[in-house]
Amino acid sequence: MIVAENLVKEFRIAERKPGLIGSLSTLFTRRHRLVRAVDGVSFEIPAGSKTAYIGANGAGKSTTIKMLTGIMTPTSGRCLVAGLEPYRERQRNARTIGVVFGQRSQLWWDLSVPDSFRILRRIYDIPAPVYRRNLDLYRELLDIDALGTTPVRQLSLGQRMRAEIAASLLHDPAVVFWDEPTIGLDMVLKEAVRVLINRANRELGTTVVLTSHDIADIAAICHSALVVDQGRVVHQGSIQELLRTADRRSVLFDHRDGPAPEAACARVEQGLPGVRATLTDGGRIRIDYPADRFTSRQVLAFLLDRFDLADCYAPEPGLEDVLREIYGRSRVPAGAEGGAV
Ligand SMILES: Nc1ncnc2c1ncn2[C@@H]1O[C@H](COP(=O)(O)OP(=O)(O)O)[C@@H](O)[C@H]1O
Ligand SMILES: [Mg+2]
Repeated sequence: MIVAENLVKEFRIAERKPGLIGSLSTLFTRRHRLVRAVDGVSFEIPAGSKTAYIGANGAGKSTTIKMLTGIMTPTSGRCLVAGLEPYRERQRNARTIGVVFGQRSQLWWDLSVPDSFRILRRIYDIPAPVYRRNLDLYRELLDIDALGTTPVRQLSLGQRMRAEIAASLLHDPAVVFWDEPTIGLDMVLKEAVRVLINRANRELGTTVVLTSHDIADIAAICHSALVVDQGRVVHQGSIQELLRTADRRSVLFDHRDGPAPEAACARVEQGLPGVRATLTDGGRIRIDYPADRFTSRQVLAFLLDRFDLADCYAPEPGLEDVLREIYGRSRVPAGAEGGAV
């Protein structure tokens, strides 16, 4: 459904010298610096899938999505969405896709939401039953009527995002690109948005590409992940596979009788060098081990041998932990903070 082949996007940025004289002088001298926002990205996203496009701040996610939606032309390489090159066939592509850019409105600032929807209905030639069905859904899930006839420019961020999300789905597009769609939404609305997109995917086969700072959004919506770092793809596969790339694993256990907690921790750390054992608030012992040095089988065998186990389980590594590891490995500076996804 979506193919990117060696996509590159470079920006020419005017070098700025500090101070007023400096800013004035940039008007006359033509010193430019090239920023490679997207550095040879290739991927395929199958129809009907729900893919999280993940990367630290500045990794090139929005720029890639702008090329996929036809807003920007690649410096080199190409992409295809439903067989079209988006930046060459913007009109036809627009019928196929739905877009939300959390950072930038797709709606008409001076129009109210109902007026915008009426225009979109004409533009996309949306059949009456589809239009009615979708509006009913947005009334129920996004409380769209409450937005009234206020011009979009006067809506709050959360209100605007509800309208943006509805507008992106109004024409039943085959593909939606949602770039930070849940900023400004409270928990109830985030949940409604998840229901809406999962329903479109299930019932209409809508292909979903999502970026979000909220890892819970990703977990609630996406099955697949495409991880980019410094303009390049570093992982593509299921979220499950991504979780399995975690370097550190953990096991929690309870034991009967035997040594007191502190002594038990010491016993684990001595028996398995490189492993950390700590006491949890719940009174269990937590073991963190490097996955490249021990298998879960070895850790379990050790525990069964040395302790009278009452209970034992291995929690899945969290997506956040895995992403922190990935960014850590490529030594991405502070940009990853707070903007981990
Ligand atoms: N219009 C632009 N002009 C110049 N540089 C840009 C422009 N858009 C993005 N960039 C730069 O490209 C890089 C990637 O940006 P972006 O695609 O927005 O990343 P992300 O969405 O992953 O946070 C950043 O270094 C950003 O500053
Ligand atoms: Mg972005």
